[in-house]
Amino acid sequence: MTTSATGSSDTGPLTFPEGFLWGAATAAYQIEGAAADDGRGPSIWDTFSRTPGKVRAGHTGDVACDHYHRRSDDVRLMSDLGLAAYRFSVSWPRIQPDGSGPVNPRGLDFYDRLVDELREAGVTPIVTLYHWDLPQSLEDRGGWIARDTAERFADYAAIMHARLGDRVETWTTLNEPWCSAFLGYGSGIHAPGRAEPELGFTAVHHLLLGHGLAVGALRAGGAAKVGITLNLAPVIGDDPVAVSLVDGLQNRIFLDPVLRGEYPADVVERARRFTDWSFVEDGDLETISRPIDLLGVNYYTPQTVAARPGEPASPVFPGSEGIAFGGADAPKTAMGWAIQPFGLTDLLVRLSRDYPGTPLVITENGAAFDDEVKDGAVHDPDRVSYLDAHLRAAHAAIEQGADLRGYMVWSLMDNFEWAEGYGKRFGVVHVDYTTQRRTPKDSALWYRDVIRRNGL
Ligand code: FCB
Repeated sequence: MTTSATGSSDTGPLTFPEGFLWGAATAAYQIEGAAADDGRGPSIWDTFSRTPGKVRAGHTGDVACDHYHRRSDDVRLMSDLGLAAYRFSVSWPRIQPDGSGPVNPRGLDFYDRLVDELREAGVTPIVTLYHWDLPQSLEDRGGWIARDTAERFADYAAIMHARLGDRVETWTTLNEPWCSAFLGYGSGIHAPGRAEPELGFTAVHHLLLGHGLAVGALRAGGAAKVGITLNLAPVIGDDPVAVSLVDGLQNRIFLDPVLRGEYPADVVERARRFTDWSFVEDGDLETISRPIDLLGVNYYTPQTVAARPGEPASPVFPGSEGIAFGGADAPKTAMGWAIQPFGLTDLLVRLSRDYPGTPLVITENGAAFDDEVKDGAVHDPDRVSYLDAHLRAAHAAIEQGADLRGYMVWSLMDNFEWAEGYGKRFGVVHVDYTTQRRTPKDSALWYRDVIRRNGL
């Protein structure tokens, strides 16, 4: 056994706290398919994926993993793996095909049955209300650039809670608003594909306002546990200005308003060349900072930055001229993301120190590798070692005082990886997209044992 600088063991047994919640995560557009079934309306991802050149190889979520039709089999799979929790998202355009107004009962029925089947299988449902698939008709009315979208989101949250609230305890409003804002509106890498830095900031604010209004709606309905999921990353580098600029746009622009009721002053100042922030109205920050019960943390890799004069700005970090990204000296996943588990320890410890009092759940962590089925099995030792190392890093954070309550692997199964299409496989279960056959990878069997023994 070796011991790392943090005092956690790199090998050897480790036990997690009693009641630690083990699960897996997915998102509606990435797995459901059935894009035109049972009254579902179009989402911005339907439109975007049909736009030539936006998604690798022209892939769309039309069929995906066909989970909409294979729901019961997939729940059985989860139960075979011994999952205690399943984090899934609801497709807003299945519920309100036009984004507002009439509710589509067949859409609601799908999630109703999913929740019942999960509970019968002993798997706790964790519902994410928004994992990026905005109804297209709301985008046509301005999307997250329009303040009204935040109000519509709260209406939809109330509809979902009215239907599922008797059986679902834990609710997440948004998944990764950073991506929605800076990939979707600031740079055009994701749907809806708008690319103006100013819009990134407007979208941040309206997404956060939507979060706060939805927290209110869920609480009014009596929701037990409400939170938000952020994609957070420690920023590593020697140049304090570069580190603080990127940390501001990646982490603090979301953490501070939600958990402290204010935008960070340095972020506001630096962004003035793009926006006058006039979209922030009196009372908004009170709404945005309504108390939450848990913070969902999605962690894959740190941001490594260095000062490099003359470097053009990264389109996803407005104002980042002169900063070079990447270059960490570490092995990479198939996404090209550096494998640096210590970043998870640092992140969790920092969150518990800087934003005390909010329990944390890792709502996504995992890795893409180029997996292949051979003789009915998928040997994915790289994924097993990625997950093992990150769980050790999470455990080290708990030992250092982080209030971490659970871990959801991304993902239950291979799926539509947004602009990368089906080329990147994140699942612990392999999906053959021709036959829809599911094959648990070695990592799934390994994870089942982790869950069984509550540790490594
Ligand atoms: C996160 C997303 C999730 C998945 C993983 C790899 O940013 O929330 O849907 O694509 O990355």
